[in-house]
Amino acid sequence: MNILDDMNRIKEIDKNGILKVEEDFYQQLLDAREIIQNADLSEVRKKNNGIAFLGMGGSGFAGDIIKALIKDDINIPVEIVKGYKLPAFIKSNWLVVAVSYSGDTEETISAANQALERKCETLIICSGGKLEGIGRRESKVVIKIPPKLQPRGAIGYLFLPAYLALDKLGLIKVNSADIEEATNLIKLKAVLYSRKNSSDRNPAKKLALKISDRLPIIYGTEGLLTAVSYRLKCEINENSKTPCWCNNFPELNHNEIVGWERLKDITKKFILLIFREKDETARVKKRIDVTINIIKENIGEIIEIQVEGKSKLARALSTIYLGDMASVYLALLAGVDPTPVEKIKILKEELEKLN
Ligand code: PA5
Repeated sequence: MNILDDMNRIKEIDKNGILKVEEDFYQQLLDAREIIQNADLSEVRKKNNGIAFLGMGGSGFAGDIIKALIKDDINIPVEIVKGYKLPAFIKSNWLVVAVSYSGDTEETISAANQALERKCETLIICSGGKLEGIGRRESKVVIKIPPKLQPRGAIGYLFLPAYLALDKLGLIKVNSADIEEATNLIKLKAVLYSRKNSSDRNPAKKLALKISDRLPIIYGTEGLLTAVSYRLKCEINENSKTPCWCNNFPELNHNEIVGWERLKDITKKFILLIFREKDETARVKKRIDVTINIIKENIGEIIEIQVEGKSKLARALSTIYLGDMASVYLALLAGVDPTPVEKIKILKEELEKLN
């Protein structure tokens, strides 16, 4: 029997139960909505000249996805800061949203401290840690999310409260029908992607089986699918401990497309996943179709994944969900416990020694 349909084997490999966390994504979204509904944002300034999201890795992704969702409609700049330094143009009239699951990530703390020194309006999202302490000391709003998860397994908690906070502050307008559509779609997909649904009917298991021992490359398109493809790349890296890279149309048409020429013996072991949307413009569609034709001889297999959903939010969350589940199944297929991220831990411990 295929490992992915062997419930006992899944339990043995997934010692820390991350599959259950992913399966329960729908509930996490409901809980996240409640967290922000109950948050008191009355002291947070509503008029701001820009919004900056601070955060690294799994927490940093909250900013990526929010920016992708809002950038076509908002008329103030939205900046993503993934590092120690807050750009000089972020001044006191900006809203800074610092997101760190642990609350202890040094880059996020450093940038958040600079925001506080510059007297930026600052909102903190964390499960605790030093960032919570800093926020309380400075009398800033701290939105606390449940602890004891992996940051990447807490994306609903990290992203949705921050997104809905912007709506609550009047900086964006989130359509409640979009939230309903997105959550209902996730509820449906949870049944489809669940461990109980066998490999022959389960798109997440099928995707993992397709990737198997090949090196995955993910291509998205400008905007929403750039963020989504980056998420999948990181999920494959962290859950299945597999190398994986991503890139996006149209930028890759100006460089990477040329790289699929040499080393065919190696690239034949790659699998390319391309996210596709029904409403691609004629030019984007042409770019993708021509690119596939030009490079297909050098790649083991190319899979086109059709994005589902009407609203941007539903399209983003449902595609992220497919990728998250597939990356956990990929880990299980390889007999790898998806939860531990030893290399990140070692690195953080080494840096801690500098303190
Ligand atoms: O997935 C992970 O564990 C990492 O990408 C973390 O999210 C990253 O190191 C930042 O940590 P935190 O999310 O606690 O701020």
